[in-house]
Amino acid sequence: MGPGAVEVLMIRKFRPADLQRVYDIEAKSFKDPYHPIFLINLYELYGDTFLVAEVDGRVVGYVIARKVNSKGHIIAIAVDPEYRCRGIGRALMLAVEEELKKKGVIELWLEVRVSNRRAMRFYRRVGYVEKGILKGYYGDGEDAVLFKKYL
Ligand SMILES: CC(C)(COP(=O)(O)OP(=O)(O)OC[C@H]1O[C@@H](n2cnc3c(N)ncnc32)[C@H](O)[C@@H]1OP(=O)(O)O)[C@@H](O)C(=O)NCCC(=O)NCCS
Repeated sequence: MGPGAVEVLMIRKFRPADLQRVYDIEAKSFKDPYHPIFLINLYELYGDTFLVAEVDGRVVGYVIARKVNSKGHIIAIAVDPEYRCRGIGRALMLAVEEELKKKGVIELWLEVRVSNRRAMRFYRRVGYVEKGILKGYYGDGEDAVLFKKYL
């Protein structure tokens, strides 16, 4: 990008037309990506809290959350590798927290693979605190670290 160019970041709700881009980012980010059909199921169930980040009209990240009783659960978050470390993940988190707050949520939780050091650093930077280990949480037997945040 040339000098003086300004990128415009927008956070908005997921639309079905975003599916291919979201799946591409998912596949670049995880060894066990969610199937596109599963992503559409999540949209149908939790459309208010399935958000995407757009830079100059291109989808570069997404977050999916849901409300369970009075608590918020972060199901997934990922940013295109080429767009990481510019605050987009943080902006997605803040936006989805606002949507959950509107629904009365004050407590959030999420799980992360014990091997995913980068994601754990990110979650700590955006205010999450480790609460314990979930043994064998993932399909391949890997443990998860449980994180919580109070809004
Ligand atoms: C985790 C992820 C979503 C972060 O997105 P991002 O847009 O790069 O994050 P941001 O630029 O908004 O960073 C927010 C904060 O986290 C910190 N952070 C992000 N990535 C980091 C890293 N690899 N190492 C250390 N700190 C990191 C940043 O320094 C920043 O802190 P600051 O604002 O206090 O300086 C992104 O790395 C990603 O998509 N990872 C692959 C998918 C994944 O693992 N998702 C979580 C699975 S549970």
